[in-house]
Amino acid sequence: MKVSSIRLAMPMAILAIFFSAAGRAEERQSLQAKIEYCTTCHGSSGQGYHGFYPIPRLGGQQAQYIENQLRAYIEHRRENKYMYSVAHVLSPAIRTALAKHFSELNPKPMGGAPKGLVATGKKIYEDGIPETNVPACMACHGSEAKGQGAIPRLAGQLNDYIISKLLNWNSERGRDPARPDISAIMLPTSHNLTKAQVAAVAAYVAYLR
Ligand code: HEC
Ligand code: HEC
Repeated sequence: MKVSSIRLAMPMAILAIFFSAAGRAEERQSLQAKIEYCTTCHGSSGQGYHGFYPIPRLGGQQAQYIENQLRAYIEHRRENKYMYSVAHVLSPAIRTALAKHFSELNPKPMGGAPKGLVATGKKIYEDGIPETNVPACMACHGSEAKGQGAIPRLAGQLNDYIISKLLNWNSERGRDPARPDISAIMLPTSHNLTKAQVAAVAAYVAYLR
């Protein structure tokens, strides 16, 4: 290496270190700002919000599932006007960091579901309804409803949110025929459950920690 290029390489290396440190600091700041933004709707510890438009719990949700859903909103595979606006500006690195952050929270379930439905809901969750081809939810979502990877946690999820998702599955998910996704797994189940059965299973998981 010539002396002149060594002289240039040194300051370049120092500059590169400086800029990547500054970049990381900026990323941390914007991550913190984003977390605060998410919690204005999803609750201060990601516990969700019971309202006219129920906002789902993110606390303790599977990180991979969170990332998948953010991507699905951006790619219009999952339709929701609020979350499209929120998600399409997030960089992939921030999406990963947000998913990790919320997956590590463990807020108490908000409750509020009709307690009288819990026993029926537990039975559906654990045994399914063989007569109408409803599989046991437990087979995929796990015995404690904590989910795994791309399969979401349902424990502690708001019952009104779950009800609205299961009753509207095919108008909200898997919306790009050119890009079929994992949401197709839930389509027959969402069709085969009656409204009363949906309300029961939603009440059961809403109280699980
Ligand atoms: C203006 C309110 C609002 C803000 C701000 C907001 N969300 Fe949401 N979010 C919603 C609503 C409403 C839904 C339910 C949408 C639906 O049913 O598809 C939702 C759904 C989600 C889901 C899908 C959850 C599931 O169980 O499938 C994820 C993941 C999510 N939001 C992440 C975030 C993240 C991360 C942020 C911050 C960058 C954020 N949200 C900011 C309102 C908001
Ligand atoms: C064969 C595996 C499988 C079975 C059985 C199953 N699920 Fe799912 N479920 C999934 C997958 C995978 C997803 C994620 C879909 C996506 O990414 O859009 C999901 C998503 C969901 C969601 C959306 C959660 C959210 O946060 O938006 C609900 C609600 C749900 N399932 C309820 C149930 C119920 C109730 C049962 C039993 C009656 C059940 N599931 C049985 C695999 C399964």
